[in-house]
Amino acid sequence: MAYYDAYIAEVQRSHVLVDAVDFFRLDATRRLELDRRAEFGQFMTPPSTARLMASMFVADSEHLSLLDAGAGVGSLTAAFIGEICERPRRPSSIHVTAYEIDKSLAKYLKSTLDQCRAVCQSSGIEFECELVESDFIEDGTRSLRHEMFMAPRRFDCAILNSHTRKSIATPDAISA
Ligand SMILES: C[S@@+](CC[C@H](N)C(=O)[O-])C[C@H]1O[C@@H](n2cnc3c(N)ncnc32)[C@H](O)[C@@H]1O
Repeated sequence: MAYYDAYIAEVQRSHVLVDAVDFFRLDATRRLELDRRAEFGQFMTPPSTARLMASMFVADSEHLSLLDAGAGVGSLTAAFIGEICERPRRPSSIHVTAYEIDKSLAKYLKSTLDQCRAVCQSSGIEFECELVESDFIEDGTRSLRHEMFMAPRRFDCAILNSHTRKSIATPDAISA
């Protein structure tokens, strides 16, 4: 019975994670400047869609490495963590790399990652994360060119809602 209660408490916590982060989404969206919002495609994913996306991952490795490229407040990462923590078969560790170019959103993202850590800890999963406050497209392009002796990064899973104008309209970043 105690085990069952602990299990229910854990499932509820990971379930609450996505909804808790949704407060960040609503608050951040209210504060965003319209010009910047359009320039960087800052249209965040609602919880139901984020949960659906997360549910589609197989993600059955012992160690998972997730890329969230253009993470916003971290709704997709939170949905991924919530999903994985609720599964009967869980990894022993998750590493998240979250890129966000907008510093005002990165503040919320940091809090989201802290919450992800707490939920992982309560599910017995080791959690590591890297919040990268820079341009994912530039970093990705550099990495592909092996510039500056950068070791190529590898990920098991990537989750994104890419609305970046740059990703569509910067052919020089892609083909140079
Ligand atoms: C469509 S929103 C999606 C946010 C979040 N993934 C979600 O689904 O709610 C795209 C996000 O990517 C960020 N972004 C846009 N261009 C970027 C770039 N080149 N590098 C890193 N982040 C970027 C924006 O600031 C925005 O937060």
